Formats: sequence, structure tokens, C-alpha cells
Amino acid sequence: MQHQKMHKVARLGDLPEDRGTRVKIADTPVMLVRTGDTVHAYAADCPHAGAPLEEGAICNGRIVCPWHKGTFDASDGSLVEPPALVGLTRYPASVDDGDVYVSPEPVRQQEDRRAPDPATMFIAGAGAAGAAACAALREAGFSGRIVLAGGDARMPYDRTSLSKFVVAGDMTPADVPPLLDPAFFSKHGIERIESEIVRLDAAKKEAELADGSVLRYDAALVCTGGIPKPLDVPGAALARVHLLRNLEDARAILASLDGRSRAVIVGAGFIGLEVASCLRRRKIDVTVVAPGKVPFAKQFGERIGGMFMRLHENNGVSFRMNAHVSALEGGDGVREVVLDNGERVAADIVIAGTGVKPATSFLQRVELADDGGIPVDASMCAAPGLYAAGDVARFALPHSGERVRIEHWRVAQQHARVAAYNMAGAKREYAGVPYFWTYHFEKTFDYLGHTSEPDEVVIDGELDGPQFIAYLMKGSEVGAIVSCDRNEATARLAEALREPLTLEAARRAANA
Ligand SMILES: Cc1cc2nc3c(=O)[nH]c(=O)nc-3n(C[C@H](O)[C@H](O)[C@H](O)COP(=O)(O)OP(=O)(O)OC[C@H]3O[C@@H](n4cnc5c(N)ncnc54)[C@H](O)[C@@H]3O)c2cc1C
Ligand code: FES
Repeated sequence: MQHQKMHKVARLGDLPEDRGTRVKIADTPVMLVRTGDTVHAYAADCPHAGAPLEEGAICNGRIVCPWHKGTFDASDGSLVEPPALVGLTRYPASVDDGDVYVSPEPVRQQEDRRAPDPATMFIAGAGAAGAAACAALREAGFSGRIVLAGGDARMPYDRTSLSKFVVAGDMTPADVPPLLDPAFFSKHGIERIESEIVRLDAAKKEAELADGSVLRYDAALVCTGGIPKPLDVPGAALARVHLLRNLEDARAILASLDGRSRAVIVGAGFIGLEVASCLRRRKIDVTVVAPGKVPFAKQFGERIGGMFMRLHENNGVSFRMNAHVSALEGGDGVREVVLDNGERVAADIVIAGTGVKPATSFLQRVELADDGGIPVDASMCAAPGLYAAGDVARFALPHSGERVRIEHWRVAQQHARVAAYNMAGAKREYAGVPYFWTYHFEKTFDYLGHTSEPDEVVIDGELDGPQFIAYLMKGSEVGAIVSCDRNEATARLAEALREPLTLEAARRAANA
């Protein structure tokens, strides 16, 4: 056999089948994936945020990224699960006499020669779900007009970085990564309108933008996300009182921090505590005020909630739990936070992380849930020609059927992919495993599945140590998993949780 341009990179017998093997061809990192006597070669760094894919897992014929569990088909590198939005670059590979050869020239993608579809797809909201929907519509073969509208439509970006790196000063606002390569939109002929949608009439299938223009569509996806709830107390309008949802909010927080040293965070949710962690990195005094005994008690139970609280306290964060803010006081800016027990906490800056409400007020002739969410069926359809995804969507969890709204990045993109495929004529149903990641004091925690008020929490490892996996049990089934620095095991669990799972089966998957 001729191996022109092919580089001998490994022996077949040295390659495991349950994980990839990283090699370098010239300067290109490539991951070899072995299935029996066949080897595939893919770009070794995840197209989402560059994770080393060989540190994830290969199971059920899928490659699972160690960082945010983006998932790819092991046989061709195509995208299965976000937050990656494109598949893996593939390299020609062959096996000859036990030697593995790979070409440094990637496999060329076939040019799309389909006749343009006359339909128009309208994507309302240019965040996590909106970007995923644009990519998935083209991936699904839709060749017609795609219009993406929203405040961030010029360049949808990764808002998860704001509370992890930007507020800490580890990333400038200008360096927040875009969700899709800037060239993607022109290459795929996607129109972007940077404007607010002021009205979307589901029956007439038309949307009105803030500039007065009206756009008629054949199918629309509403993915306008959440609007943070402002504090509803006297003094909430004082200067240096902030919310955090977008880049402008992050810039405003950075400006308020300049030269100041005392912060109060209202709310001990993920965003509040990530911001607390960022502010401690800047050596700012941080007090967190929140209801409940410990953070996350409802989602994770008190033991895990207590671990998050200790982690923060050990890094200098003060807590006022079982407390509510009754007023903010100051003059030219906030100076004090008054609690309902009368205590006054000095503050130069206040950041409220007290939840969001769905951004759906512009919708007409769509029945909304009590919280403003959009009820959808398993195909993410809310009404004929109208789909919803992400923070706005109220959907049924695959196994339990429980109807929920989940404010997680990957869930938004999972929804968007299902909706986009269905808008393009497929018949898909949401069957994803919810997933969330969060970062505190250089520790990353993964949260897989979804449950509240677990019956029992079983912990393998040391909760306060560098690594653990906690199984949140609902009856005899694992409802959700919280883990710390167990990337490979959590990647396998992300696959295993597609089916109902007992504790024993989950442990087997984690320790395979
Ligand atoms: C600071 C921060 C950190 C986070 N970190 C994590 C994390 O680590 N992991 C995780 O899983 N999740 C995280 N989340 C949650 C996650 O970002 C959301 O669940 C996700 O963005 C939801 O995606 P979406 O597409 O539904 O909405 P978004 O990403 O919010 O996108 C909605 C878009 O629609 C726009 N829009 C709203 N109304 C209109 C209108 N009328 N007209 C036009 N456009 C409109 C908005 O401006 C926005 O650009 C974080 C959220 C924040 C704010
Ligand atoms: S780096 Fe792979 S999914 Fe994020």
C-alpha cells in the first residue's frame, strides 16, 4: 500500500478503544479513535473551547469532551451534543500491517449544492440557543433563508465567561469568545439583524423589529433567554447596584469596581457565587446575603450546599444566610445594605443574582405558562410554525416527564438543535441529559441530570477534597450527579444517564 502524504503515527495494538490517543503530525494535534481494527483520526482539541478530547471518554460509539461534555459520533466526528456547535475536523487514516497512518490534510467537506429552499426561518434571540439553531439548521440541510435577530446578533458570545473570568479580570470583555467563527455566518448565508423584537405574532407568522420593519417567516424559534430580576427594595436604583446577564452588565460592574473594596452579593445561586469567587480573586471583601441555611440546598441537599459554603468561607467570603435585603442606602452610590434583621452591611457595590424571568413579553397569540415560559412538546414546538428553546422553554424531562424550565447553557443548545432539525423537516424529540458546569476558586463542578430535593445523596470521594462524585438519588434511581474534577468519569456518566440509572449502574459507568 502507498502511504503518500500519510504519516506513520502509532501501532494499532497500542491504541485503547475506550479513549482517544493524542498524536502530533507536524504541528497538528490529532486524536486517534480505535474501533476494533479500524482507526479514525480527528482534530484533538474540542471545537468548543479547546479541551483535550483524549481526556474525555469514548462510549456508546460517541466521543465525550472532558470539559463541557460536547459529544461527537466516533465513526465520523459529526456533532451529537452541544456546547460544541460544529463536528470534528477529520483526517484520512488507515491501518497497514498493524501500523496506523494519518494524513495531515483534513478530509474536505462536500460542497452543498442543494437548490435554495423558498422558506424563511426566523431565529428570535442571538444567544446560546440562537447560535446553535443557526448551525443546526444548515447541518440539517436547510438551504433557505435564515434570519437571526437580537441584541447580540452581530456576534453571539459566550456569556458563561462573564461570571467566571471577566469579573475576575482574567479575561477582558473584548476577549469573550464568540459562539461561532465570525466567517460562519457569511459562509452559510445567515442574515443577522441587531435589533430588538418588539412583537411576534404566532398566528400571522410575522415579527416586528424595533426599527419598525416586519419580517414574515415560515417557522420561528423563540430563544430570547431570561431577563434578570432586579431587586425590589428601596434604593435598588442607586449607582453601583448591578445585575449580570450580558457584556454591558459586566463592563458596568468592572467600572464600579475600580478602586473599591467592599461588595455585597444578593443571592447564593451559581451566578452570585461565581461572582463572589471572581471578586475574592481581586481581593475585594465579599458578603453574600441569601435566604436558606446553605446555598443550593434545594437542588443538591444540605451536604453539598454546605461544601460550597465552606469553600467560599475558606476563601474569605462572608455569608448572611436566612437573610433578606430590605433596603439599599447611600448617596451618590450605594453605601450600605440593610438586612431584614436590622443588620447593616457596608457595600461599595451590590450585585444581585436573584434569578431571571423569561423574555417573552413580545409574543402574541401564544399561551404562556404562569412564569412567562413557553410550553413546548417533545419536538420543542409551541404552536404551528413556532418553536421555543433555552431559558424560555417549559419542556418535559425525558424519563420523568416532569415539566420544567432549565436555565443551563447546554440545555438551551440541545433544545435548539432539536427545534432546528424539526424546522428543517426532521422528526426529533428532546432526549438530552441536562448539564451545567460552574467554577469557584479554581475548582470546576459538573452537574448532570436534573432533580430537586434528593431523597439521599451518596458521595464517592471527599466532598471537601479535590475530587468527588455525588449521586443525588430519587428513590432507587440516580436523579442527578454533582462531581468535582472527575472529567473522564463524568463524561461516561453523561452518556450513561441517557437511560434511567441505579446507583450500582452509575458507579460501574463512572469506574469503567
Ligand atoms: C453570567 C452568567 C453565567 C452563566 N454560566 C453558566 C454556566 O457556567 N453553565 C451553564 O450551563 N449556564 C450558565 N449560565 C446560564 C446560561 O447562560 C443560559 O441558560 C443560556 O444562555 C440560555 O440560553 P438562551 O439561548 O435561552 O438565552 P441567552 O443566551 O440569554 O440568549 C438570549 C438572547 O436573546 C436576546 N433577547 C432577549 N429579548 C429579546 C428581544 N425582545 N428581541 C431580541 N433579542 C432579545 C438577549 O439579549 C440574548 O442575546 C450563565 C448565565 C449567566 C448570565
Ligand atoms: S471544550 Fe469541549 S464541550 Fe467545551
